[in-house]
Amino acid sequence: MNQPEEYLLAIESSCDETAAAVITRDMRILSNIVSSQVDLHEKFGGVVPEIASRAHLERILPVIDDALKEAGVSLKQLTAIAVATEPGLVGSLLIGLTAAKTLAMTLDLPLIAVNHIEGHLFACQMQETHPIFPAIGLVVSGGHTNLYHCSESFEFDLIGATIDDAAGEAFDKVAKILGLAYPGGPAIQKAALQGNPKAFPFPRTFLKDPELRFSFSGLKTAVLYKALGNPGAKKQPPALTEDRIADLAASFQETVVDVLVGKCQQALQKYNYSTLCVGGGVAANALLRERLTNMARQAGIHLSIAPPDLCTDNAAMAAIAWHHLDQGRIAALDLDVTPGLVR
Ligand code: KG4
Ligand code: ZN
Repeated sequence: MNQPEEYLLAIESSCDETAAAVITRDMRILSNIVSSQVDLHEKFGGVVPEIASRAHLERILPVIDDALKEAGVSLKQLTAIAVATEPGLVGSLLIGLTAAKTLAMTLDLPLIAVNHIEGHLFACQMQETHPIFPAIGLVVSGGHTNLYHCSESFEFDLIGATIDDAAGEAFDKVAKILGLAYPGGPAIQKAALQGNPKAFPFPRTFLKDPELRFSFSGLKTAVLYKALGNPGAKKQPPALTEDRIADLAASFQETVVDVLVGKCQQALQKYNYSTLCVGGGVAANALLRERLTNMARQAGIHLSIAPPDLCTDNAAMAAIAWHHLDQGRIAALDLDVTPGLVR
């Protein structure tokens, strides 16, 4: 007789997306519901933590309901509950964790804590038929620009990071400077289509540095000065026309992509790896995907990059919980969140 199918309910609420997904043991995503709060945060040009927590509270149960309905799975059929508990905004994480704990306790199911960053890397594995690890991993999102050594046993060791802003944060801040929409990544990508990426030769910070580190704060200031002027300079820049915005967006995007691709190449060479996996919201960027693909082809390495909807925050990527369950890593009901940024 066939074994009954096993189902994982995964919950994600670390920042401003309320998300739930149902994933089978063999990694089929039966549903992946994401309720974005962009409309609530866009007028502030960034996520307002208190607003995010309140919105999670309102949305978490309907989102879980939708995920189960779309999957055609009932609460009784679930095998385990997974939840992202770190890193993220403390109030936001707590809403997801409380929902997950309540379900685990009332249904008497194992509760599994997932790290949001390992989820971003695991999203790459989910779309592959063969194991991709060991690999060099890049997580490039609103909160992180980190390089990892990813082992076959799903251990992720940090080998490089930004010393200031994350790449996604730079996209968001530069979009705000240029008067573009929030979140900045997709808005800059769109504006850049009409621009000249060579118009402004911005500095590629640390690109030639032997250390695996990033810095995007100086680039953001460089764009600010070209767009709105330098308070110390006598001459003010020309008016910020649509053409100039497009050139600034294209030049900024080109700079970030050059640095990210260059640093991945450096990490692959340093550790002599032949697989690169890339996750996080910025990995949805079309130019970055194209350049990484070209680099991988030329270098003869395997590039694993999740489809765009698995790069931005979602709950399906918490399916790494199946692995934790197999290892017996079941959380107690006094599980707490760990908001801290560095893993
Ligand atoms: O992974 P994510 O959804 O949330 C965090 O964990 O931070 O990443 C969000 C970030 C935002 O900064 C957003 O501007 C950026 O990903 N992003 C993009 C694109 N889509 C989202 N950046 C560049 N190009 C995109 N197409
Ligand atoms: Zn994320």
